[in-house]
Amino acid sequence: MSNYTTDDSGIPVPSDEHSLTVGPDGPILLQDYYLIEKMAQFNRERVPERQPHAKGGGAFGTFEVTNDVSAYTKADLFQPGKKTEMLARFSTVAGERGSPDTWRDPRGFALKFYTEQGNFDMVGNNTPVFFVRDPMKFQDFIRSQKRRADNNLRDHDMQWDFWTLSPESAHQVTWLMGDRGIPRTWRHMNGYSSHTYMWVNAQGERFWVKYHFKTDQGIEFLTQDEGDRMAATDTDYHTRDLWEHIDSGDYPTWTLKMQIMPYEDAKTYRFNPFDLTKVWPHGDYPLIDVGTMKLDRNPVDYHCEIEQAAFEPSSSVPGTGPSPDKMLLGRWFSYPDAHRYRIGSNYKELPVNSPHAGPRNSYTKDGQLRHHNPGDPVYVPNSKGGPHADASVSGESPSWYSDGEMVHQAYTLRKDDDDWSQAGTMVREVLDDAARERLASNIVGHLLNGVTEPVLVRAFDYWRNVDKDLGERVEKGVRTAQNGNASSDRNPASPAAEAKA
Ligand code: NDP
Ligand code: HEM
Repeated sequence: MSNYTTDDSGIPVPSDEHSLTVGPDGPILLQDYYLIEKMAQFNRERVPERQPHAKGGGAFGTFEVTNDVSAYTKADLFQPGKKTEMLARFSTVAGERGSPDTWRDPRGFALKFYTEQGNFDMVGNNTPVFFVRDPMKFQDFIRSQKRRADNNLRDHDMQWDFWTLSPESAHQVTWLMGDRGIPRTWRHMNGYSSHTYMWVNAQGERFWVKYHFKTDQGIEFLTQDEGDRMAATDTDYHTRDLWEHIDSGDYPTWTLKMQIMPYEDAKTYRFNPFDLTKVWPHGDYPLIDVGTMKLDRNPVDYHCEIEQAAFEPSSSVPGTGPSPDKMLLGRWFSYPDAHRYRIGSNYKELPVNSPHAGPRNSYTKDGQLRHHNPGDPVYVPNSKGGPHADASVSGESPSWYSDGEMVHQAYTLRKDDDDWSQAGTMVREVLDDAARERLASNIVGHLLNGVTEPVLVRAFDYWRNVDKDLGERVEKGVRTAQNGNASSDRNPASPAAEAKA
């Protein structure tokens, strides 16, 4: 094959290095089509970054079923022995696309499975719970984590203001401030659906389920100091780690385990099993093995395969479905909307997003950058041989009974529904003394970084509600540091504070 440069139309270009000018020293000419193409294309290289989860990396792999869970779901990808090609993308939430991988933040754990029944996406995090339980508050939560409107700085005062006014955040913030708030690498963290989803078996029986992808590399974390140092020395540490391990043939794996709740249990369970701020204790719903996910192929084109990858909880294949979790139902809408804005209405035309393991017989048509239409007939019903919906293939839509007035109200409270207990259980029963010490120290450090009265006082109460002893330690730690350094009531890391000290 000839190896000469062409423009995007395939026309040979006269020079890689010199623009068309009137004589070697004269002005540049507008008819230098190739120069204009280069400049114009360059100006349009970036697609908007994801609103949250902008910084991330990913790889391809395979999911293999090692157990028989066909009693709970008929989904093709979960049938015994099945192997399915998949894509994973890991991310931080609040930072921009170039931000450090090792900032304290939840990590995104987004998976796309190319199944024979269409693409199945599990768009989870490395935590089994979340900060809020109503999608109405998600936008506000994310803004409290992003940059201020006035000085364009991130602001811990704003974060704690939101958290302390949103007590449902306590479980997730406890998680975030603990060891798992900075995973050592993406290979050393678990992934959770967090939400409750539905599974439906071949007989039409329904189950409520939670997905847990447990790392086979073991959980490892970075301390706050280690994370800070790494943020300064290797901004892309997690991206590099994943790439290099896969490149060298050391493929990371995760074991998928499910919690499965019989459909009827949800009606009488002691707390709302659809509340995203809570886990189901393992003692009530033990983990059931399903299979193994292995990542063994690096992308060859990050923009096309990772940056333009479009994950959406609503990509839900037969045998799987949503639940009455309000957050999940909000997300069902939000992601496709984000992709249409960020990538374009035909984002599913891109190879990474297209369902290539099975047929795609949809009736969508045209639009920007469409390169293949289904062909006539482009309407249904038709008598011209076009595809038609077949419930024996798709199954009935997963469903549940629902009735009531239309209201703007919180979930109905059950006996054990409260915002603090599960966070307190984690502090008292899951963490050991050293982990509790690091948790207290991480919270104190975070609060000393610019949190002002009265938010500070609310934060002490917040932690006392999680665990009395932890609250006392946090207050003592903050007050002692403030008394030892009068200037630390403003951001001690700021140049102005340092100058005052
Ligand atoms: P279990 O003792 O059965 O489970 C405790 C869980 O805590 C394990 O899944 C363990 O994960 C996880 N864990 C261990 N260390 C940490 C840490 N530093 N930060 C976060 N999680 C950690 O108890 P229960 O199921 O009864 O739950 C008790 C509490 O444990 C809950 O209130 C919740 O805060 C937390 N938890 C519960 C989970 C669940 O799905 N039930 C999942 C994760 C946490 P691993 O096995 O991976 O080490
Ligand atoms: C990314 C919305 C809650 C996990 C995103 C994006 C949006 C969004 C708009 C950017 C998508 C893109 O441009 O590609 C929401 C809304 C939520 C919500 C409206 C609540 C109502 C959650 C929860 C989780 C989660 C609870 C985890 C359990 C993720 C992940 C990504 C993401 C992993 C990155 C996906 C990727 O790698 O491309 N979210 N989100 N989100 N969200 Fe959410």
